[in-house]
Amino acid sequence: MKTAIIYTTTYGTTEKVANYIAEKLHYKNIDVVELKHNTDFDVSPYDIVILGASVYLGDIQHTMSNFCKRNLEVLLTKKIGLFICGIEPELVRQDTELEMAFPLNLYNYALATAFVGGEINLEALNASQKFITTSLLGIKESASFIQYDLIDIFINQLQIASE
Ligand SMILES: Cc1cc2nc3c(=O)[nH]c(=O)nc-3n(C[C@H](O)[C@H](O)[C@H](O)COP(=O)(O)O)c2cc1C
Repeated sequence: MKTAIIYTTTYGTTEKVANYIAEKLHYKNIDVVELKHNTDFDVSPYDIVILGASVYLGDIQHTMSNFCKRNLEVLLTKKIGLFICGIEPELVRQDTELEMAFPLNLYNYALATAFVGGEINLEALNASQKFITTSLLGIKESASFIQYDLIDIFINQLQIASE
């Protein structure tokens, strides 16, 4: 199955997850694409399309939102997996962030969806982001909260549903 893993990232976590998924998928023909430099990427040749983005103050990168809107019709003909990176600890809020991240009909149509956790590298953030992270999000040290077990479940779900 020809597969595209298309992602947006600000500090590299979503790229890390996209590459992890590419390594773990059983398929051979996989392209991993950073959307920011390929906004006109053509998904039509692919059987499976996995879209990944990260959440900042409740929103994913606009490059991904706009791509989904522009390509909605063709995306709704593909086998779809959707994931987001974020550090929200509450399950209900994680679900809400995931549901709000992509167009609702794409979210409902997807074969697999996942909130896979995230990372904070305080040294990489600018002053206002650092303030938000330490004061509002309560993260005082750089840390990784990537949930590889959830990524593995996401991969399995997508593969089983695609067969
Ligand atoms: C300023 C700031 C705001 C953030 N807001 C949220 C948020 O609203 N919800 C959430 O789950 N994670 C939030 N995060 C965590 C990021 O989604 C997390 O760091 C993620 O790993 C970033 O992935 P990226 O490097 O691929 O952009 C925030 C992080 C920063 C620095």
